[in-house]
Amino acid sequence: MNTIIEPFRIKSVEPIRMTTREERTTFLENAHYNLFALDSENVIIDLLTDSGTSSMSANQWASVMRGDESYAGSPSFDRFHKAVHHLMPFSHIIPTHQGRAAEKILFSIIGGPGKYILNNTHFDTTRANIEFTGAEAIDLVIAEGKIPDSEHPFKGNMDIARLEAFIKEKGPENIPLVMLTVTNNSGGGQPVSMENIKETKYICMKYDIPLFLDACRFAENAYFIKLREPAYANVKVETIVQEMFSYADGCTMSAKKDALVNMGGWLAMNNPVWAEVARNLLILTEGFPTYGGLSGRDLEAIAVGLVEVVDEDYLHYRISSTQYLGRHLTEAGIPIVKPAGGHAIYIDARNMLPHITPLEYPGQSLAVELYLHAGIRACEIGTVMFGLQMDGTEKAAPMDLVRLAIPRRVYTQSHIDYVIEALTEINQNKAKLEGMKIVWQPKQLRHFSARFLPINSVQNQKENFSKAFQAENA
Ligand code: F0G
Repeated sequence: MNTIIEPFRIKSVEPIRMTTREERTTFLENAHYNLFALDSENVIIDLLTDSGTSSMSANQWASVMRGDESYAGSPSFDRFHKAVHHLMPFSHIIPTHQGRAAEKILFSIIGGPGKYILNNTHFDTTRANIEFTGAEAIDLVIAEGKIPDSEHPFKGNMDIARLEAFIKEKGPENIPLVMLTVTNNSGGGQPVSMENIKETKYICMKYDIPLFLDACRFAENAYFIKLREPAYANVKVETIVQEMFSYADGCTMSAKKDALVNMGGWLAMNNPVWAEVARNLLILTEGFPTYGGLSGRDLEAIAVGLVEVVDEDYLHYRISSTQYLGRHLTEAGIPIVKPAGGHAIYIDARNMLPHITPLEYPGQSLAVELYLHAGIRACEIGTVMFGLQMDGTEKAAPMDLVRLAIPRRVYTQSHIDYVIEALTEINQNKAKLEGMKIVWQPKQLRHFSARFLPINSVQNQKENFSKAFQAENA
């Protein structure tokens, strides 16, 4: 059989409120054209993120009732610990309320001015937490990882030659940690091969630098290894996962992705000295080490989610449905980052809308139109997200992408067909799309709250006129 079906039945449903284009025009104006400012009730299909948006299974909901909310020594922590340790056998596993909390603790310990943290590509919260300590976050993904058209099977791989050259140049004493983000979210949800994990580990050992995985999408990465690395074709995904972590000295994890829950995370490591400092920091902001920032019921749901996420029927459906979306967009002539990622399809908006320059945010323009046209919410990953420099100037990001992130076990194939139809129609009229302008922004992480206007909007022209008038008459 070629038809790929969702390997689950639906027991509980959430209604979707349908909206008209006219209504959405108003919602968008009220949100200052920033899709993060929309009410989610006014979104028909929400592809903003795959993070914290998974559907939990009947078994996970059942486990929630078993949650023991004792402050210390809860059996829910034991079940959480056992499930994590089975896949990621680190000596110290410290629960946190989400991934960035683990990052914050880790980099508070090892960051600081003059230090460099190397990664294939840092996710934005990882980068922000590193820079917050005064350290520098360096991205060293292979060259193919930055070419949207390249069909390299492991575009998330670390550039081993550049990694070693960087360590030699800056000195291993200034590099407290090397990371690998699996899959490489900011680079298109692309996997890292087992071979590359081993090579990275080899370089780290040579210079005595620990290697951590940013493990958010570890199961999707493992399934890609099974599909694309011949030696692993007949190896169980669970075994592949265990091998991936066997080369690491620790990990940060957002359980909101591949633990199939809505909230949670952890920091894990073998280094007992770092772990002790981490637990002390944990108590300051997250909570006692047997619950971190989580309830007992959250720990239970993670323990069950970790079993379900390495199920190969689930992963087959998961990866195939993302590929289905990618294949149909490509057939419709829409340029996407190839090959399809694990959790998302990334549209190459710069290439799709060549009449909009990077500093007029082609990704934002496309994301706005996708909402207006069909009520679909996606996320710009380009110059809006990465263009603002530390000195306040702006430059084009390496790529202008729009991410269609697929929540796990939430949407059916007909929802995805609706997305394909909407984008196909937009692509047919793409010359009509216009660039955007930022009219207000914060100093950091501007994509969450910046305010935009379409370049040719009446409101924008009025603002320009009044600014010019004020300047002339000042
Ligand atoms: N690392 C990666 C690779 C991520 O994708 C994320 C979150 C984090 C760390 C931080 O985890 O959200 O639990 O604090 N990514 C989400 C996304 C927000 O939409 O891609 P968190």
